[in-house]
Amino acid sequence: MMRTVPFEPIEMQELGAVDDLATRILAGEVFIMRGGLQKVGLFDELVEASLVGIRKSVGDETAERVSKAGFERIHEWVDAADVPKMTDAVYGEMAARVQTMMDKFVRQVFPGTLNYYYERSPNVRFHIPYALAASHRKSFGEFAGSHGDGKITAHGPHRDSWVDCPANVVNLWIAIGPVKRGNGLTIYARDYKSKLAFKNGYVADSQPLHEPMTFALEPGDAILFHSDQVHGSELNVTDSTRYVVSNRITLDKPKFLYGHHHHYVNANWARGPMGSLAEWPAKMQMSWFFDRFRRVGRKLGLWNASGSEQASSGNEAGGVPASEVSEAYSDDGSIALADLPVHSIRAVSKSVCVARFAENEFAALSRRCPHAGGDLAAGWVADGRPVCPLHNVSFDPKTGASHCSSLKELRTFSCEVRGDRLYLDTVKDAGNAGETELA
Ligand SMILES: [Fe+2]
Repeated sequence: MMRTVPFEPIEMQELGAVDDLATRILAGEVFIMRGGLQKVGLFDELVEASLVGIRKSVGDETAERVSKAGFERIHEWVDAADVPKMTDAVYGEMAARVQTMMDKFVRQVFPGTLNYYYERSPNVRFHIPYALAASHRKSFGEFAGSHGDGKITAHGPHRDSWVDCPANVVNLWIAIGPVKRGNGLTIYARDYKSKLAFKNGYVADSQPLHEPMTFALEPGDAILFHSDQVHGSELNVTDSTRYVVSNRITLDKPKFLYGHHHHYVNANWARGPMGSLAEWPAKMQMSWFFDRFRRVGRKLGLWNASGSEQASSGNEAGGVPASEVSEAYSDDGSIALADLPVHSIRAVSKSVCVARFAENEFAALSRRCPHAGGDLAAGWVADGRPVCPLHNVSFDPKTGASHCSSLKELRTFSCEVRGDRLYLDTVKDAGNAGETELA
């Protein structure tokens, strides 16, 4: 039976409540297991492993405080400069326990699974408030360079297969501390089947996306989703640290679409006398040999090392056009109201976009998000605010301010309705200084 991909997550209260869980996840449904880690008997173990890593890297006293006050307050005792080494230490603890953890999880959440593969090292994700992280962009960026984005920095929207993960992965995203809307995960379920342009592992610049799912989670809640859902991180605009551990599993042989360099362990081999060779069943595929060949070629300079620009349908082509300057915008600085429906946002030049929040509520703003340069014209409008599609940062349409004190304000411009058109004045701004060009 063909199911439609729902745009809201499905609450799963009990283990084993969904018969064909893996099939449904790999068809695009997103599940939340409330208290899932407590139910499978893993929560205390994960908390303890985390505290061991914290103790080893930033001291007994900090670990003691965190165990009393919660992971969400960790930035009050750990200097932002120490977050990379603390994360590394917790990585070590998680990797040491991964096999027993995954066995316990898979046996209970996917009962009847005879053989499965898991990623050798679970991902450890400490996102301190961006207001504190912003002054450490360089060292956090270096950590992202060696560990990938999304660990201590926000991750832009991507499908995991674009970053060389298998396409048939179930992602397990586990809240060890609380997760709030404003510091969590984004899953762009409306774009699950969309054909999207991507570059270097991310959606391409100005690729329009639809508003994603966001989540509020209690410690121990787990989200299960197909890794080829477009997903990413919200920039942490809250005053809490969010601490999450995630891992990926495949319930049959991992299938690599692009590159093949992640380490997938065969669970049956890992438990037996062949334990030291447990990564070989996943490697014995043409994709792995092609990937070695490609990497050697790059090292020898035989071809370009930069990422490719491609279009991926995930499942089937949906045909979302790239965001373009609206043709409806005319040289006299106006746009027809008919071309700007309520709850829409349109580019009117290379640097300016217009949004319509209600029948008679409009704003004209600079297009580029001050965080990472995301194109607001490729985003959406929610709760009367324009939202950047990269990390779900929203802005006050009147002042241009976000919820994060360390981000610059967007520039806002005057606009007014005359007749059936909205006229922009991009030279005279609406509040914050400066002029802009209608380039
Ligand atoms: Fe990912």
